[in-house]
Amino acid sequence: MKGGKTLISRLYERLDGKVIIAAELEDSDMEGMNVDELSAMALSFFREYDGLRVLDKKTLGEIIKGLESKEPLVVEVLQQPSFKPVAKEFEPKFRMRNTPLEKTGATVNDFASYFRDRYKRLRDMLSTSNIGMVISSDKIGQYANGREVSIVGMVYDKIVTKKGNIMVTLEDEYGSSKVIFIRPSSPDRRDQSSLFDSAMKLVHDEVIAVKGKTGAPPFVIANKLIWPDVPVHARKQTREDLAIAFTSDVHVGSKLFLEDKFIKFIEWLNGNVETGRDLAGKVKYLVIGGDLADGIGVYPGQDRDLAILDIYKQYSTFFKYIEDIPDYIQIFIIPGNHDAVQLAEPQPVLPEEMIGDFKRDNVHFIPSPSYVEIEGLTSLIYHGNSLDSVIHSIPGCSYSRPEIAMVEILKRRHISPIYGDTPIVPSKKDTLVMDIAPDILHMGHVHKNGLAEYHGTQVINSGTWQARTDYQIKLGHIPTPGLLPVYETRSGRVTNVDFNGL
Ligand SMILES: [Fe+2]
Repeated sequence: MKGGKTLISRLYERLDGKVIIAAELEDSDMEGMNVDELSAMALSFFREYDGLRVLDKKTLGEIIKGLESKEPLVVEVLQQPSFKPVAKEFEPKFRMRNTPLEKTGATVNDFASYFRDRYKRLRDMLSTSNIGMVISSDKIGQYANGREVSIVGMVYDKIVTKKGNIMVTLEDEYGSSKVIFIRPSSPDRRDQSSLFDSAMKLVHDEVIAVKGKTGAPPFVIANKLIWPDVPVHARKQTREDLAIAFTSDVHVGSKLFLEDKFIKFIEWLNGNVETGRDLAGKVKYLVIGGDLADGIGVYPGQDRDLAILDIYKQYSTFFKYIEDIPDYIQIFIIPGNHDAVQLAEPQPVLPEEMIGDFKRDNVHFIPSPSYVEIEGLTSLIYHGNSLDSVIHSIPGCSYSRPEIAMVEILKRRHISPIYGDTPIVPSKKDTLVMDIAPDILHMGHVHKNGLAEYHGTQVINSGTWQARTDYQIKLGHIPTPGLLPVYETRSGRVTNVDFNGL
């Protein structure tokens, strides 16, 4: 039971008056069942039903039986003959920038050189901002007290002192310094409070610049905090009126995979859905941001939640849907944390044994993260594994607004700024540093759609095709399944196409 409500009353809310619940039904009849899944199945069960829609014990039994044996239908989708998509008339223009993935032994030395590379590259980025004279941490003592200096370092530690100030330990190649962010003396001190609020958002292992006044070594009293950040830039607008559709978190194989909505989406791409048909015809590119399948053994007891228990079958089913997408659409596919690839980042492309016989020239398997230049727009595509640690660590971030966390990631110019929660491969070059400021940053992972524009970068989280899981119910997360963000390359407009009502 959640929030004191009975299963029956939660089911009643979800059915929204469309189906009557018989008085004979009791909570015990649906014990252990997911109410979202059950209500979705009941609504679809009664969809074509003309009589009085009553959910009684007998019907519930039939629905439960259907749920237990639920395997996707995978119907073949044919293109609407009258559909004349504008996207078909143009040659695709794209370039994939794949950094070769290094294998390392993950020794202490590998990690040391990985972090050194991260520090140096982010420091170089910071030095192009107007940060003044940068001194190394070991030189602080050479300056008189109160002298204005700048330092660049990686955050090693952040604590709140007894006086309520924030003290950050910053490391550079020569040692470490202690930077103090003074707690605002009164709420009127706007200058102090905005600096203090920024300092509250600092996370371990990120690289920043601080301007401040020297104190007794190794202390510096901060008066400015600078992130590597994305410069304000104008996004390219194309002459051709084309579109890029972004999606993720399909979770084929899960009992909660919303197959009817996903098929509707494929139908839409084929011109079989009236709503938004013009927009569908503009779609020349489709990006799939990971969690293609639900996987096997991703979390304890997952087999209870699976409609397809065979991992190969999960992928072959996924590819059957992909086969029905028109072949003039270029499709870019990255893996996610549920997919059958290594979890440590960067995640390599989906292995061939999962791809099996599927082969199409318009489908490109790429690592996570990856840069793809599409119609001159630099798109950074990443599943979003680091969103968990960013949301947990930075005040103001939440699962309900993933775009805010994505902007924090952009500011830090690093895909996974906090080391620890998300495993990484310690390559010599830290490929998670954002060398190029992207025009579009696309992620998924949190199953919640979100859009934002930051310094000219379009931020997109593409939601999911999976209904609310028990895990999400427990954590209070509310996903937004069936919403497809589509970016138009001429206007720069993003539309969330809603497949829930179609
Ligand atoms: Fe997912």
